[in-house]
Amino acid sequence: MVEKKDIDWGSLSFAYQHTDYSYVSNYKDGAWDEGTLTPDHTIVMSECAGLMHYCQEVFEGLKAYTTEDGRIVCFRPDQNAARMYDSAKRICMPPFPKDRFVDAVEQVVKANEAWVPPFGTGATLYIRPFMIATGDVIGVKPADEYQFRILVTPVGAYYKGGVRPVKLQVSKFDRAAPHGTGNIKAGLNYAMSLYPSVEAHSKGYADNMFLDPQTRTYVEESGGANFLFVKKDGTLVVPQSHTDSILPSITRRSLVDVAENYLGLTVEQRPVRFDEIDQFTECGMCGTAAVISPVGEVDSDDKKIIYGMEEVGPVMKKLRETLTGIQSGEIEDKFGWVHEIA
Ligand SMILES: Cc1ncc(COP(=O)(O)O)c(C=O)c1O
Repeated sequence: MVEKKDIDWGSLSFAYQHTDYSYVSNYKDGAWDEGTLTPDHTIVMSECAGLMHYCQEVFEGLKAYTTEDGRIVCFRPDQNAARMYDSAKRICMPPFPKDRFVDAVEQVVKANEAWVPPFGTGATLYIRPFMIATGDVIGVKPADEYQFRILVTPVGAYYKGGVRPVKLQVSKFDRAAPHGTGNIKAGLNYAMSLYPSVEAHSKGYADNMFLDPQTRTYVEESGGANFLFVKKDGTLVVPQSHTDSILPSITRRSLVDVAENYLGLTVEQRPVRFDEIDQFTECGMCGTAAVISPVGEVDSDDKKIIYGMEEVGPVMKKLRETLTGIQSGEIEDKFGWVHEIA
């Protein structure tokens, strides 16, 4: 049993601190090297690296945590491996092999076991795999050298003191282009969403609801999460994109399976018009960090849609409790999603 770091786990926020090791593998001459753990948390590279000029960067986010019976696990890392593979291909980077991705996650979490928060603190070890173009490019083209890296850092519970509904605004900006890169996890999408995100926060909103960038008619997603809605009859409604501009959230896909296979709900996955969402009874945003953040209100120029700021709707509550129960080991993991590391 590794002795844990002397950290006040309960008061951690979502901030970076370096741990003992990161994982690194480099791509050169058409092949990935064998990869290694490193205590060095800095990267030195050429001023002409492709990353600096043409934004060849993709990343992932997942977390390792301790279950009630003391195992260190993470949730569906194979899905992060697959999504990063797709992200890399879309911006002409050599994809990192999926089995090696999962192996690297295991290695770096094991090496930092002392930093994995104990059960019951709500804190987790955030895992951030990313890939950057390190080779020189001056003309616009893909680089020929890359680095795959994983940093890990302990972070606090997303909700301290209970889950509370949040307020959103409908953004006047887009976070992605139609048939662009919105469906991959590339840093460039997040650069594009910073201005609307800062603007939303300055007006007191927790996040933006982005509409489809082609027609501004359909609901897409928020800056960092997919949407879920509930109809009056209890059906779960999950927006799909006409323009391939929604990131395929692993939490959302898991919640659809939970809804159908654990809770017996009917699920509709389809384009969802903005002008129909005032007919729904619940709205939530889903992603790795919060699992589900209930949405209490959505404001646009000409209307205010109220789901309720006081409490979490019953379907969102049940979905959240079931998925977090599966993650913590308190509910049977029918699909083998919980991946044991140590
Ligand atoms: C734009 C965006 N949508 C959705 C999600 C949720 O995805 P996941 O459930 O895989 O964390 C994220 C976070 O990763 C995101 O950045």
